[in-house]
Amino acid sequence: MKSVDRNQVTITPMRMEDLDEVLWVEQSSFRDPWTRTLFEEEFKNPELSHFLIARYEDHVVGYIGFWLIQQEAHITNLAVHPAFRRRKIGEILARATLHLACGMGALRATLEVRASNDPAQGLYGKLGFAMAAIRRRYYADNQEDALVLWNDNLSPFCEPWEPPPPISETP
Ligand SMILES: CC(C)(COP(=O)(O)OP(=O)(O)OC[C@H]1O[C@@H](n2cnc3c(N)ncnc32)[C@H](O)[C@@H]1OP(=O)(O)O)[C@@H](O)C(=O)NCCC(=O)NCCS
Repeated sequence: MKSVDRNQVTITPMRMEDLDEVLWVEQSSFRDPWTRTLFEEEFKNPELSHFLIARYEDHVVGYIGFWLIQQEAHITNLAVHPAFRRRKIGEILARATLHLACGMGALRATLEVRASNDPAQGLYGKLGFAMAAIRRRYYADNQEDALVLWNDNLSPFCEPWEPPPPISETP
């Protein structure tokens, strides 16, 4: 795996044309991936549903989605292709989303994460999310619990924000 210059990672709204590549990321990231139809349904609700993609060297390498429900951002999905993980792309996507949501009036953010998903929990913890509840056996595929996380103060994410500096070393 080559190194990733984070200055070359661009974050943009997802378009329908990005869907093939987003599905490539999705299918490489989850054992129960969202289908094309599910994504297409999201595009039908532009007031509610918002998606960003991370592009590197002209390829989609990650994406994130959230629903804006009144003053709450509900993060619906986040994935970075396995070949591009641990390069801060997930963090850049999440920060960009919280910045966007804050600009749209969100005061709080929430999401569900698998109890076993240490990487995602690490990322969300770094961004100020804390566990508020457990949904027992929430995931149908393996009966795994979901942790419900909240960040109750998005105001720091409203500040002007720059992606972190480039990295040149592989971990
Ligand atoms: C969760 C995920 C999006 C993280 O993306 P990423 O680009 O690899 O993460 P980043 O490099 O931005 O890491 C940011 C922080 O997340 C945490 N983190 C990321 N990967 C981690 C790992 N393997 N183990 C522990 N903590 C991890 C760390 O706190 C890290 O900060 P640090 O680099 O200062 O230690 C990625 O692992 C993924 O796509 N997983 C599969 C899909 C998924 O689980 N999505 C979340 C659904 S809720």
